[in-house]
Amino acid sequence: MIVVTTPTGNIGRHVLGRLLNAGAQLRVIVRDPRKLPQAARDRVEIVEGSHSDPKVVDQAFRDAEAIFWLCPPTPQETPDAATVEFSRPAAEAIRRHGVRHIVAATTLGRDTPWQEKAGMATASIHMVDLLRETGAAIRGLALPGFMDNALRLVDSLRQGQMVGAISPDKRLPHTAVRDIGEAAAGLLLDRSWTGQIDVPVLGPEEYSYNDLARIISEVTGRAVRYQHVPYETLKARLLASGWPEAFAQAYINMLRAKDEGMDNIAPRASAIIGPTSFAQWVEEELKPVL
Ligand SMILES: NC(=O)c1ccc[n+]([C@@H]2O[C@H](COP(=O)([O-])OP(=O)(O)OC[C@H]3O[C@@H](n4cnc5c(N)ncnc54)[C@H](OP(=O)(O)O)[C@@H]3O)[C@@H](O)[C@H]2O)c1
Repeated sequence: MIVVTTPTGNIGRHVLGRLLNAGAQLRVIVRDPRKLPQAARDRVEIVEGSHSDPKVVDQAFRDAEAIFWLCPPTPQETPDAATVEFSRPAAEAIRRHGVRHIVAATTLGRDTPWQEKAGMATASIHMVDLLRETGAAIRGLALPGFMDNALRLVDSLRQGQMVGAISPDKRLPHTAVRDIGEAAAGLLLDRSWTGQIDVPVLGPEEYSYNDLARIISEVTGRAVRYQHVPYETLKARLLASGWPEAFAQAYINMLRAKDEGMDNIAPRASAIIGPTSFAQWVEEELKPVL
């Protein structure tokens, strides 16, 4: 039995789809089962509720062999509340039920000079540390920025702008969520692995934000330019949109760490490399929405 959290989310729905295609025996934790595709509802066991709820995870992890774990990125008072504290009931249930394998979504940054000062990324690494304490075998999928983040910028892209605080020419890895889902599903199906390590999941090449804007322009035929704003401006916008101070600062600290090179250290030789290029992703996912 494999348990999938966030089966309606960006990554989670790909994990669910691939595991369904493989014919795996599945249980999902979902707040609103009506959001699942009908085909999934007919074929999976459903535990209704949030995976931060002790009763929900206790029920869901009974007889489970493996878990796909993902903390929702919803802003909370502190980054730890959204990651470490969110995962604490699950860690206890994993230990209680003797779950053997965990695949968890996390960030790049472990074993780098930024590990303890990268805000959101640091909190996510500490969340994996908590899961490691259960003694289960674990693969932390160490993720760079998602190509799919551009879908959140559709309104400004329509006006020809892609706004961000990372330096315009800083080249960084970016991964498509479909490739992350594929990587997670592969690890959940083949559980011959042991030990506790993070595995980077990267795309085929690195891109600067100027590159991303140029590729969007070329593929969609709409002129888009990257508008670089200071970190203070971005933080003020996050606070104005209702983000708590500590969460907004943690997000800024993560972006600064990426700008300084945190995401460029992971060796590609030991990474899972997704096949989707940004041009392909724009053609297939962004262009139809734009
Ligand atoms: N975006 C990036 O560039 C990036 C980079 C590296 C790592 N990450 C990490 O990747 C994760 C985000 O992945 P994603 O984009 O796949 O997430 P997502 O789709 O934004 O997550 C939303 C999912 O979480 C569920 N959810 C929201 N609040 C919940 C709650 N309180 N209790 C239970 N379920 C809840 C939603 O369910 P409903 O359908 O019920 O709303 C939905 O399934 C985060 O942990 C983030 O730190 C992100």
